[in-house]
Amino acid sequence: MTQAGFPIWWGREPSVVDTFLTGFNFKGKKIVPFCTSGGSEIGDTASRIRSLVGDDVYVDDGKRLGGQISEADLKTWTEGLE
Ligand SMILES: Cc1cc2nc3c(=O)[nH]c(=O)nc-3n(C[C@H](O)[C@H](O)[C@H](O)COP(=O)(O)O)c2cc1C
Repeated sequence: MTQAGFPIWWGREPSVVDTFLTGFNFKGKKIVPFCTSGGSEIGDTASRIRSLVGDDVYVDDGKRLGGQISEADLKTWTEGLE
């Protein structure tokens, strides 16, 4: 599993994240996007990442991690990803 974390910039993942993701072969991996933001949700980031990495990579819908998330909720989310 590969976790890809980034801030939301202008409603989406920063272009440098796209550059990073296209520079590696993630075949057979699972990518889990997660983000921080000033308030925007993660939006259509997952579908954009899917189009970048190709059909043979599983990309989770991902999650925005707000500052208020509890440790228990974070644990539940990460355990559900395995
Ligand atoms: C260039 C730039 C664009 C941003 N665009 C958004 C945005 O569209 N929506 C949003 O909620 N936050 C936006 N932010 C805020 C960042 O997502 C936020 O600062 C980052 O997730 C880090 O969170 P923190 O400042 O609480 O540490 C932007 C920040 C920058 C520097």
